[in-house]
Amino acid sequence: MKNAVDDQLKKVTQKIASSEAVVVLTGAGISAESGIPTFRGEDGLWKKHRAEDLATPEAFQRNPQLVWEWYQWRRGIIAAKKANPAHEALTLLESSIRQFLLITQNVDGLHGRAGSRKMIEMHGNIWKMWCTVCGEKMENHALDLPPLPQCVKCEGLLRPDIVWFGEAIQSGHLEQSIQACQNSDTMLVIGTSGVVQPAASFASIAKESGAYVVEINPKPYLLDIADVTLSGKAAELLPKII
Ligand code: APR
Repeated sequence: MKNAVDDQLKKVTQKIASSEAVVVLTGAGISAESGIPTFRGEDGLWKKHRAEDLATPEAFQRNPQLVWEWYQWRRGIIAAKKANPAHEALTLLESSIRQFLLITQNVDGLHGRAGSRKMIEMHGNIWKMWCTVCGEKMENHALDLPPLPQCVKCEGLLRPDIVWFGEAIQSGHLEQSIQACQNSDTMLVIGTSGVVQPAASFASIAKESGAYVVEINPKPYLLDIADVTLSGKAAELLPKII
C-alpha cells in the first residue's frame, strides 16, 4: 500500500514539475488541520446550525443580529488559528509555476495569511464587510464588534463580505476561474466535498479541456474525473508533492 501511494505522489510531483499552468481549487478541508471545523464533516459547522438560518440574505434581513453572532463566533475561532503546511505549500507552488491561480471557497483568510497572492476568494472573506446602505467596503479584524456593526461613513448596517446561498459570485471571479480551468495543464482539487456550485463544476471543466486532475481528500468525490486520487490529508500530502 505504502509504495502505491509513493508512486502516486511521484507521478503528481513530476506532472506539476512539467506544468506551465496550474489551477488549484480548495475547500474547508485544507483548513481542517489548522483546527477550523469544515461545513459538512462530522464536526461540521452546519451540524449545529442550519445554513438556511444563517448564510442567506433572507436570514440577514430577518435577523441581522443572529447572523452577525454566528460570524463573530467564527471570526473568534479563526483568529486563534494559523495557516498549516498545506497553505504554505501552495504559496511555494505559486512562486514556481509560470501561470498559477488559486481559487478558494474558504472565507477564513488563511491562504492570504500564508502568502498566497494569485488567488480568488470566491465566497468572500470573513474579515471583510460592506455597508448595506452606501456600499463602502472595509476590512476589520476586531473580535469585539458591536452586535450590529455600523458603517464608518454613513452609519448604515454593515454585512459580512461573504457570498451567501442564493447570491451570485462576484462578477469577474467566475469568468477568471473558468478560464483558468480551461487553460491549465494541471488542476489540484483539495479539501472540498464538491456540493456547492459553481466550484463543484470546475474540475469537469478542466478535465474536458485536457487538464490532468488531482484530488486530495480523505473522502474523495471526483472518482471518475480525477487522473490521480490521493485519499489523505492535505497538510501531510501537499508538502510531499510540492
Ligand atoms: N485534508 C483534505 N481534505 C479534508 C481534510 C483534510 N485534512 N479534512 C476534511 N477534508 C475534506 C472532507 O472530506 C470534505 O470533502 O474536506 C471537505 C470539506 O467539505 P465541506 O465541509 O463541504 O466544505 P466545502 O466543500 O469547502 O464547502 C463548500 O459550502 O457551506 C458552503 O460556502 C460554504 O465554501 C463553503 C462551501
